[in-house]
Amino acid sequence: MKKFAVVGYGMMGATHLSILKKNPRAHVAALVENDPTKLKSVTQGNIGETPEEDLLKGVPTFTTIEKMLAATEVDCISICLPTHLHRRFVTQALEAGKHVICEKPMALSLEDCDAMIEAAERNQRRLFIAQCIRFWPEYEILKQFKDSGELGKPLSFIFRRVSASPFWAGPKSWFADTTKSGGCVFDLHVHDLDFINYLFGRPASVFSQGFTGTSGGNEAVMTQYTFSDGPMCFAEGSWAYPTGFKMAFTAVFEKGKLEYDSNASPALTLTRQGVDKPEPVTIPKKDGYWHEYEYFIDCLETGKHPEKMTLESARQSIEIANAEVQSMKEGKAVFL
Ligand SMILES: NC(=O)c1ccc[n+]([C@@H]2O[C@H](COP(=O)([O-])OP(=O)(O)OC[C@H]3O[C@@H](n4cnc5c(N)ncnc54)[C@H](O)[C@@H]3O)[C@@H](O)[C@H]2O)c1
Repeated sequence: MKKFAVVGYGMMGATHLSILKKNPRAHVAALVENDPTKLKSVTQGNIGETPEEDLLKGVPTFTTIEKMLAATEVDCISICLPTHLHRRFVTQALEAGKHVICEKPMALSLEDCDAMIEAAERNQRRLFIAQCIRFWPEYEILKQFKDSGELGKPLSFIFRRVSASPFWAGPKSWFADTTKSGGCVFDLHVHDLDFINYLFGRPASVFSQGFTGTSGGNEAVMTQYTFSDGPMCFAEGSWAYPTGFKMAFTAVFEKGKLEYDSNASPALTLTRQGVDKPEPVTIPKKDGYWHEYEYFIDCLETGKHPEKMTLESARQSIEIANAEVQSMKEGKAVFL
């Protein structure tokens, strides 16, 4: 059994704690949160299961990572902090000899990614970036269809991830400060650009349009990805919708189409070429947060290389996000 400390008890800290407490291969030995008011209730988000209210029962809490490390023996640290803090806390945890799972996006610059990778290599500890959509059942099914070739050649793909501004951390929160969150591109849309990178490899170019919000940061983006021998591919990410949250894709292959809408029922359907009616696709019950921890713990227990979520690939997604922001600013395609 792996002993974990979770750092940060906002929306994602609560999600990690909830997932870990249900996993028989994990034990939550500590929580670190520097704002005591956050411990009074569970921060609810826009995706995944609603965490239980008594999450902190039996979990020792600390206000700093230093105090936690001095008092508790843990194998792994889950970093669920605002994005601009990822590099600092990830490297500190690795230097302390712990394995680390860190929320997406990996960081806001390639320099930070490189420092984190270097610290993992030097300390010979695992660093895993929690790009949960690679583990989300509907997206895994899409990847399986693409890899198996059952539906023939991929032709055209559209991904969407749209919501109101992240509400759980308040209107003046770090999310609204682009130097801390990277705006919608790094925070929300990164899920889709990372999945596109995972599905088709690094695009040859990106062409993005978007607009800025009141914070001056990017609030919405629409990107076209090109591949030397790949499908047409677009993705929309937005914090500008009035309410709610939706993730969706339409994936057209030579011999059929997969359609996903997180707000629809059935959420995932397959329409085969020549058949009028879409058929519902059965989706495994557990979500990507559960599966990413299963994978991370598997890798730790067996020593296998995390080929589904390598650091090089997580870093590449930050390179693509940077290129999209550059393209938005310059009004032209950026070649990678
Ligand atoms: N995978 C996903 O689906 C998903 C969804 C939302 C957010 N995220 C990512 O997760 C990370 C956290 O986002 P969130 O929504 O949980 O933010 P949040 O603001 O809800 O939570 C962050 C928490 O960290 C605490 N904190 C800040 N500085 C600290 C410090 N020095 N020591 C201890 N605690 C500290 C804050 O008080 C807060 O409770 C971000 O990188 C974000 O991009 C991922």
